Amino acid sequence: MKITTIILAAGKGTRMCSDLPKVLHKVADKPLLQHVYDMSNQLENNRIHVVVGHCSDFVKETLKDLNAEWIEQNQQLGTGHAVQQVSDYILDDDVVLILYGDVPLLKLATVKTLLANVNPQSLALLTVNLENPTGYGRIVRNAQSQVVKIIEEKDASDTEKQIKEGNTGIMSVQGGQLKKWLNQLGNNNAQGEYYLTDVIEMAVADGVLIVTNQPETADEVLGVNNRLQLSHLERIYQQELADSLMQRGVTLKDPARFDLRGSIDSLGYDIEIDVNVILEGKISIGNHVKIGPNTSIKNSIIGDGVEILANCVIEDTVIGQNSRIGPYARLRPETVLANDVHIGNFVEIKKSIVGESSKINHLSYIGDATVGSKVNIGAGTITCNYDGVNKFRTTIEDGAFIGSDTQLVAPVTVGKNATIGAGSTITKNAPENQLTLSRPKQVSVASWQRPVKQESY
Ligand code: UD1
Ligand code: CA
Repeated sequence: MKITTIILAAGKGTRMCSDLPKVLHKVADKPLLQHVYDMSNQLENNRIHVVVGHCSDFVKETLKDLNAEWIEQNQQLGTGHAVQQVSDYILDDDVVLILYGDVPLLKLATVKTLLANVNPQSLALLTVNLENPTGYGRIVRNAQSQVVKIIEEKDASDTEKQIKEGNTGIMSVQGGQLKKWLNQLGNNNAQGEYYLTDVIEMAVADGVLIVTNQPETADEVLGVNNRLQLSHLERIYQQELADSLMQRGVTLKDPARFDLRGSIDSLGYDIEIDVNVILEGKISIGNHVKIGPNTSIKNSIIGDGVEILANCVIEDTVIGQNSRIGPYARLRPETVLANDVHIGNFVEIKKSIVGESSKINHLSYIGDATVGSKVNIGAGTITCNYDGVNKFRTTIEDGAFIGSDTQLVAPVTVGKNATIGAGSTITKNAPENQLTLSRPKQVSVASWQRPVKQESY
């Protein structure tokens, strides 16, 4: 079976009150349209066509990596008109799948059920029973419960408006049949639009059976028309992700205060995540990892037994097993920490490698550095890696001890087991095993007197 998927995404989305086209608004930091694409892209033998209109150049540019055919609909004359724009790309033997670019939570399993229902004798339609179906087209059935047509709300009689079964808009049809019916669409209705829904009545007239299925929950077919609905969908999506993580053995202190905006590539067991943790991009987390509150982690790999304390910001970093990070640590891109490393409060590390069992516990900036194992970096140490134009590397070899408040002016190397006296400005290489310090001699002035304030009368 060859599938032609058509994603309708030409609408403006006026109610978003936005410069951004609606389908580029995001759920979990991913554009709505990308959600729909990613889901449908999992179908085999599938060519995806996206119908764009409003700000189409911007949509295409933003999502240029999609392996899809972009189809322009210059005027938005209705869902039927939108699908007509794709007619030339539809082969008679194709199964056509119609999706909406602003319905991002639809599940692959639901679509597969829909596709299983389509053949030359039957058209597959996804419907949903709703307490309040206002705004939806209604599914009209005959006495034998067979679908006979869809009536749009604006064209519906009072009796038809009582129908609780709504049209999701998602359907699947044999290509040749769809093309024939598209040719027959008119716009003689309340909105003067070419309704795709009119093909249902045509199918019935041609003796084609309408087979319906419903999504597992109505959430799957919710669309986004305004920012309230967008936030509602974000919460539904996040709750689902949280549920699935908990099922895989993660303790979330509060699933309502956890956000995943990306994917977890690998996940250990006995992971504990405190409140207000945001995981972004691609994340791997080993066994027995604890992540403290208010921490954001992006594109990082976290080894077994790592503990991340509160309020850390971590990006593009690899953290080795049993390391302890934070509170208030910032690990910037290209940081690689070996096992048993300790990074403490108010420490910033950028583009640096830190060897096993090394400690940088307080108030430091380590950038463009290679730090060996068992190194101890004292409070207030700074690598001066930048002269305003160029960046230089600092190398600190195994076992070195850097006294507090040291500036290491790169390029510079501190040798194996070297000790740097506190308060030093190190501009030349410090040899191994020796004490190096740069510090003016301390003097005391015995005759000095502190100025005294004159009493005023
Ligand atoms: C449509 C259905 C309705 C269904 C509802 C579900 C029709 C006539 N009606 O109504 O039965 O209950 O969806 O949400 O199909 N679009 C285009 N080009 C256009 C018009 C729309 O690409 O010319 C796209 C929109 O961007 C959107 C989708 O099609 O993604 C649906 O359009 P919308 O205007 O929301 O349809 P409704 O009137 O809500
Ligand atoms: Ca709609």
